[in-house]
Amino acid sequence: MPVGVAVFASGSGSNLQALLAAQQMDPDCPFEIRLVVSDKPDCLAVQRALTAGVATWAKTPRTFADKAAYEAAIVTELRVHDIAWIALAGYMRLVGSTLLAAYADRIINIHPSLLPRYPGKQAVVDALADGATETGVTIHFVDAGIDTGPIIAQTRIAIQIDDTVETLLERVHTAEHRLYPQVLSDLVNERRA
Ligand code: GRF
Repeated sequence: MPVGVAVFASGSGSNLQALLAAQQMDPDCPFEIRLVVSDKPDCLAVQRALTAGVATWAKTPRTFADKAAYEAAIVTELRVHDIAWIALAGYMRLVGSTLLAAYADRIINIHPSLLPRYPGKQAVVDALADGATETGVTIHFVDAGIDTGPIIAQTRIAIQIDDTVETLLERVHTAEHRLYPQVLSDLVNERRA
């Protein structure tokens, strides 16, 4: 019986798509994406979820009294769908104490750099601007900080001299789409062993 996962996304949702594809391709996939949560109801990730027939909960936080109320509503929805793990995939909000308490050690994030280098929203731009010769992808447990929390896995990516943000981003995404389904599968299997 696969374990229920919710993917949180605010943007294009290419990592969501990669997780869905991995699930579809593997009849023994240990996880099942049962819900997509978004703070941006119009984003492409929500569209992808709808197309794939996955349930969505997409609401703007400002329609709630505060962050705790917003996250409490999410937790209620997570329980409805029997969600055991949360995978952030381009979710552009800091996870607050309500979600962290409800899903302690069961929230993971993917970030486009070799953390702790280049946290924040512009990691690929920052690596290029810094003249770095390599960057990568990190999957880590989520805590209250910005792209902090224990590291689970990393993939290194060499930066070429003629790389632009677009060319480097393409390789970063390719690496992300390979790494995220693998790490999520391994985690789910480890925790239920
Ligand atoms: C990814 O690069 C991820 O590392 C970062 O946000 C981006 C989301 O991309 N946290 P997508 O929405 O999955 O295409």
